[in-house]
Amino acid sequence: GEVSPAIDSPGAALARSYPVRITVVGAGDVGVACAYNILTRDICSELVLVDVLKDKLKGQVMDLQHGGAFYSTRIRAAESYEDTAHSAVCIITAGVRQRPGESRLELMDRNAALFKGIIPPLVQYSPNTILLIVSNPVDLLTHLAWQMSGLPRERVIGSGTYLDSSRFRTLLAQRLGIDTASVQAMVLGEHGDSSFVYRSGITVGGVPLRTCFERMTDAASASTAFYDLVKGVHQQVVAAAYEVIKLKGYTNWAIGSAVGSIVTTIVHDRRKVLPITTHAGSMRGLESADVFLSLPCVLGRNGVVEVLQILPFMESDEKEDLQSSIEALQSTPKKAS
Ligand code: NAI
Ligand code: 2OP
Repeated sequence: GEVSPAIDSPGAALARSYPVRITVVGAGDVGVACAYNILTRDICSELVLVDVLKDKLKGQVMDLQHGGAFYSTRIRAAESYEDTAHSAVCIITAGVRQRPGESRLELMDRNAALFKGIIPPLVQYSPNTILLIVSNPVDLLTHLAWQMSGLPRERVIGSGTYLDSSRFRTLLAQRLGIDTASVQAMVLGEHGDSSFVYRSGITVGGVPLRTCFERMTDAASASTAFYDLVKGVHQQVVAAAYEVIKLKGYTNWAIGSAVGSIVTTIVHDRRKVLPITTHAGSMRGLESADVFLSLPCVLGRNGVVEVLQILPFMESDEKEDLQSSIEALQSTPKKAS
């Protein structure tokens, strides 16, 4: 009879018991940071990378494969989109990035043109996938990807302000001298210059941040101190990518970590609440807004399970900020040229 091989790669064994394929399109600085983060989480049996630059793709994949003793995922370079078939999640990081001083929205025309050659073949081979857009401007490109894909809207998401929220929590935690994991906060709206902080949702160890100030001083000065702190940290968040791009030319590690967390939430059906890019129409009161931006989404195996209905609890200036984000996104042409 047939003898099964005694020596088998852990990746092959895992693929049989837990066949989850994940595709990353774009093997640049962001794509490999996403790939590396996913590899270290041991959440899939196979990771497929796609890029138009074949030598670069081969080099990146070989370099990742050489760490094969330290993770159990099989890594492959796609020769064509057929190699990405049946991916549970497809992450799109392909495209140009900002030059120093350039805004994310200015990349739209160039990256929208690329999406025409990426989204249709991906969805053709993975009709039940979840598309996770990372390329910028991420909100507009998520909208475009949804239109091009024909997928239900809960299956097309963008990394959105999950990264901005991590930046905000980290910087606020530093100022407070408290561990970032104990600081909860969400930046919402456009991933970019018109993002805003959902102030009333900021808690430190479960205690509303505003309450922390009220314990220390009278109501009027507590309010001013609270607003000033949130505003100051948010300004740092908006400037963050510009600063890093000026210093090292691009950002990649933080977004790689955010993407790893999003993908884990999907693959393990964790139903975490994450501020990620979704269709605004899922929020009651925004039904007529034909725009994608970040809102608090419950995320699971089938994509966005629901959007938390925070609109009635938002302060009037937060609602204005949300409107500004909607307008900033709507005023940028979103059709692929
Ligand atoms: P990069 O230049 O290092 O890599 C981009 C890769 O895309 C290149 O390898 C290129 O060959 C590839 N590519 C171009 N056209 C392609 C196509 N049609 N099919 C497959 N691959 C293609 O750029 P980097 O730094 O990786 O940035 C990628 C994108 O990610 C940019 O748009 C950047 O703005 C965005 N980004 C988004 C973040 C977010 O939070 N959403 C964070 C950081 C970057
Ligand atoms: C970032 O925020 C450039 O969108 C990219 O790091």
